[in-house]
Amino acid sequence: MDTPKQRDVAALEEQYQLATYKKMPVVAERGEGVWVYTSDGERYLDLYGGHAVAGTGHCHPHVVRAIKEQSDKLLFYSNLVYSETRARAAEKLVSIAPELLTKAFFCNSGTEANENAMRMARFATGRENIITFSGGFHGRTADAISATFLGKYREIGKPNVPGHLKAEFGDLASVGALADDSVAAIMLEPIQSMGGVRLAPPSFYRSLRELCDERGIILIYDEVQTGVGRTGDWFFAGSPAGDGVVPDIVSLAKSLGSGVPVGACLVTEKIARHIKENDLGTTFGGGMIAMAAVTATLEAIENDRMLENVQNVESYLRERLREVEQVVNVHGRGFLLGLEFAGQAKPVHEALLEKKIITGSSSDAKVLRLLPPLCLQQSEVDLFVEALAQAVN
Ligand SMILES: Cc1ncc(COP(=O)(O)O)c(C=O)c1O
Repeated sequence: MDTPKQRDVAALEEQYQLATYKKMPVVAERGEGVWVYTSDGERYLDLYGGHAVAGTGHCHPHVVRAIKEQSDKLLFYSNLVYSETRARAAEKLVSIAPELLTKAFFCNSGTEANENAMRMARFATGRENIITFSGGFHGRTADAISATFLGKYREIGKPNVPGHLKAEFGDLASVGALADDSVAAIMLEPIQSMGGVRLAPPSFYRSLRELCDERGIILIYDEVQTGVGRTGDWFFAGSPAGDGVVPDIVSLAKSLGSGVPVGACLVTEKIARHIKENDLGTTFGGGMIAMAAVTATLEAIENDRMLENVQNVESYLRERLREVEQVVNVHGRGFLLGLEFAGQAKPVHEALLEKKIITGSSSDAKVLRLLPPLCLQQSEVDLFVEALAQAVN
């Protein structure tokens, strides 16, 4: 934030907006692909992908065009009417999902998707309790924050919604001990992102699926971060990293609309059977701008072969990171990666920002998070690795 204009913008926000986030000293004005520009033309390499939202990159032309065209036709009508834009978005989303997930419910954010996922599990089972995991993050509304056994979130969310039980991520015995006939659902981030990018072995997901089937429990994957191509597969659900396991409900948000707020739940027929008129709803869910953005986002990922790109560039990045001996481990999958250092990650994050590279922190002080747009190229990885090598020295 080097110029008076940028400092004025920051001062204005600080005066009129509640200070709920620790901001980086960056005034973002424009974006293109993996780059974010300030009003003074400085550019930042965005390896945090606009908070994991810019999956297709900033301002992907296909998405921007779709939003503009829809704006000229109809900004919004709710689910009280039919809409071709909504019908096409739902069809497209279901078409890329694992076969068992056949119906979509649209809402506006990740926390809302999770609230609705838990509610559907309660409808489907007639039970109330929900098992989630230490280190998982599910959002900030009442039920979702009560399901979040990470840091001080449950404390912030007090009084908590009753019926939330905590198991240990990756530890099947801890789940089995809680999974009695009071339990409606087991919900997890298949890769715990904020918790430090933690992935369990494929057998863990398979065992959870078997446990749920045995005990009549609904399995929910919170794919708010892992969904929509981030791991190099469309979803963690059904992917080899999770031994092909398909949950009963997948919740989505973040990059689903490339920046237009939208959340969704994908559900199986088994769940859909239990949902009746008026059981779920939200005015803005399924609005036309969001739906146009969803279809265009999924098309852009397909047209630009971004899933393959994620797989190739992830391998290249992992290879190049071997050159930086201070990186002691690389966690995660695809473009949801946690770089673990022997010491603190914060000084590295700050040194990279000085070099105009945006990265993310996590609740593990030793882990730096990368959630770049799915269009990141090898040349940009080179820039990052060179800057990182300098930042750690
Ligand atoms: C895994 C996960 N679930 C849920 C949420 C909540 O999403 P939102 O902020 O859109 O409510 C987040 C947000 O960071 C998330 O990472």
